[in-house]
Amino acid sequence: MVEIIRAENYEELGQIAGEQILRQVEEKRDSVLGLATGGTPRGIYRYLAEKKPDLSRVRTVNLDEYLGLSGGDPRSYHYYMKEYVWEPLEIGRENRLIPDGLCQDAEEECRRYEEQIRALGGIDLQLLGLGENGHIGFNEPGPAFVCDTHKVCLSPETRAANSRFFGSPEEVPRYALTMGIRTIMRARRILLVVSGGKKAKALQAIMGGGVTPQIPVTILLLHPRVTVAADAAALGGKF
Ligand code: GLP
Repeated sequence: MVEIIRAENYEELGQIAGEQILRQVEEKRDSVLGLATGGTPRGIYRYLAEKKPDLSRVRTVNLDEYLGLSGGDPRSYHYYMKEYVWEPLEIGRENRLIPDGLCQDAEEECRRYEEQIRALGGIDLQLLGLGENGHIGFNEPGPAFVCDTHKVCLSPETRAANSRFFGSPEEVPRYALTMGIRTIMRARRILLVVSGGKKAKALQAIMGGGVTPQIPVTILLLHPRVTVAADAAALGGKF
């Protein structure tokens, strides 16, 4: 079942999604939160930082990381998490899980990551952003619809969309590690946040369509507990 919550704008989206996360943590202090990076969740993290909740027992696991970037590289997701989430929200070092972008053996790293998530007892709430081409995490459109954490080759569209965080599309790494669709679908609850007109087409696919690997986000239609929080621009007058 997909529940849709409409936000008027980006700021309200941050508040609405932030409140969902706070409620989750109130219900279960030691929640395992699957977290996302990118522009959309920034407003959520800002909202949470203002509220100063007690997240000392929360464990965080990240969706993805670029291959070849160190945690000290400002363009890595590790750095993003440190800057906007782990430090401002005072998440303990032992509670910060993210794939290692500098791992020697990607397959081994993916197995290790998947095992770490399992050892935590799985993900209670997975926060997801949405790629313009319908990707979730870095699960790109294509035939490999269902898998666990794995190495992906980023599509030219995704590298172009993410080039705003780099100098140019060529500087965006070609490969990344991402939780797979199966890892994401095992989360007990999913919160998808969507902002802006550029995402309207991908968002529409889960509001009216069927499940197709060409638009990875549509797999969420098969999950029992999904909340979509989207702003007016992303909904495009549809809701
Ligand atoms: C990247 C991330 C995704 C994210 C997407 C959208 O590709 N790997 O997890 O959802 O970008 O990001 P933004 O919110 O910046 O549009």
